[in-house]
Amino acid sequence: MKVTVVGAGAVGASCAEYIAIKNFASEVVIVDIKEDYAEGKAMDLMQTASLNGFDTKIVGSTNDYSKTANSDIAVITSGIPRKPGMTREELIGINAGIVKSVSQSILEHSPNVIFVVVSNPMDTMTYLVHQSTNIPKNRIIGMGGALDSARFKYRLSEALECPASDVNGMVIGGHSDTGMIPLTRLAVRNSIPVTKFISEERLQAVAEATKVGGATLTKMLGTSAWYAPGAAVSAMVQAIACDQKKMFPCSALLEGEYNLNDISIGVPCIIGKNGIEKIVALDLNDAEHAKLQESAAAVRKTNGLLN
Ligand code: LAC
Repeated sequence: MKVTVVGAGAVGASCAEYIAIKNFASEVVIVDIKEDYAEGKAMDLMQTASLNGFDTKIVGSTNDYSKTANSDIAVITSGIPRKPGMTREELIGINAGIVKSVSQSILEHSPNVIFVVVSNPMDTMTYLVHQSTNIPKNRIIGMGGALDSARFKYRLSEALECPASDVNGMVIGGHSDTGMIPLTRLAVRNSIPVTKFISEERLQAVAEATKVGGATLTKMLGTSAWYAPGAAVSAMVQAIACDQKKMFPCSALLEGEYNLNDISIGVPCIIGKNGIEKIVALDLNDAEHAKLQESAAAVRKTNGLLN
């Protein structure tokens, strides 16, 4: 199993590190445009192999896509990250050109690759990869919901004063500060609705903190977060590599599901060796359905800036 990670910035490097530590891939190739940067990250990571006990070979490449040949999975993290006060949508001008050319370069050397798109604005970048490559829709997956759901579980565990492993919850919709929809109605602690433990008001505060999870960290760190994004990508890559058939909310191209067409947006998907193997139809209530349509309208507006 060969995985390419494009972008040796903090998200790409942390993603490569988590993939290596989980020890399921034979090779991870990191690509970056900055001379020697990916090679340096790869060497530093390889020097952790004996300490962390992994056998994955990590290779760096300065923009030489021939090294990525025959990748099974390619993660696209390249582009500029947001700075404090910026929305993900403001990155579109620069990132669209980068994501388009990266996806084409990858495809030239790995015609059967499955893409995991992380670059922001993520839903629009995922849609752009669909438009510019024209490969089957199951092979293009946007990573946002897995991260947003992890942040939701973190905030739930904080409110419930319990470990994150004791709670479950999912965030659907666009990967943006206003577009995310934490499904509070379905959030549980060990199968019991969380409202048995916290007030509805506290739960709404948890949802609001979840939605600005990325922005909060950008403000604290001066750039966008990397550990949780890297971990979320690596979990999805592992689900594909190990054919786990796990459910993650992902940005998937919709063709009628949830009454939406010609858009990539976060909905629950089963992820396995073929990428998106199934889009799961949730029984949303009227308010949740309306929020998803509203979130889709905002994504569409950003998609409109592509042309
Ligand atoms: C975040 C970026 C990766 O949410 O979108 O941290």
